[in-house]
Amino acid sequence: MKRAAVALAAVAALAADMAGLAHAESYDAARAKEGWVLNCMGCHTADGSGIPGKVPALRNSLGHFVGMPEGREFVMRVPGAANSALSDAELANVLNWVLDTMNPATRPVAFRPYTAEEIAAHRRPALTDVAKTRAGLVKRLQANGITAVPEHY
Ligand code: HEC
Repeated sequence: MKRAAVALAAVAALAADMAGLAHAESYDAARAKEGWVLNCMGCHTADGSGIPGKVPALRNSLGHFVGMPEGREFVMRVPGAANSALSDAELANVLNWVLDTMNPATRPVAFRPYTAEEIAAHRRPALTDVAKTRAGLVKRLQANGITAVPEHY
């Protein structure tokens, strides 16, 4: 009886530890930076500001997208992300890093980090109608009073 209680307490402590760990280590910053530099930065620029008229900013806008389930999927399925050479785990790592470091104010408090499993299940097929999907999402954000994500970039 006593041993069972001790074992249970140990399991509970371990589970609490693991939950803490999962939260603290939703990305590996060094690897994410490397993935970003090699696969995303060339178009989105070093700090994620994008290129006016050509490439959307990821800074201060992705957080708004991931607040909606369809937006969360959109981010995984845009061609630049979906078709990148990054593995599922690497793409999850890069996206979590972008959300944490470039979107601290726009990322929802309840944001659950992307996982390799989630990326694997959703990244393909890549979106073919990006502009239309994006316009629908921006319209929904605007309906919710969020005007920070520009319709045209
Ligand atoms: C060859 C240039 C290029 C590269 C490389 C690239 N992107 Fe993009 N990205 C774009 C363009 C252009 C868009 C606008 C949508 C479209 O036309 O695909 C975009 C859109 C996005 C969006 C949607 C943002 C919005 O406001 O609509 C996300 C998220 C994104 N890219 C993430 C990434 C990530 C992560 C990487 C690296 C793994 C990456 N992209 C690599 C050019 C690129």
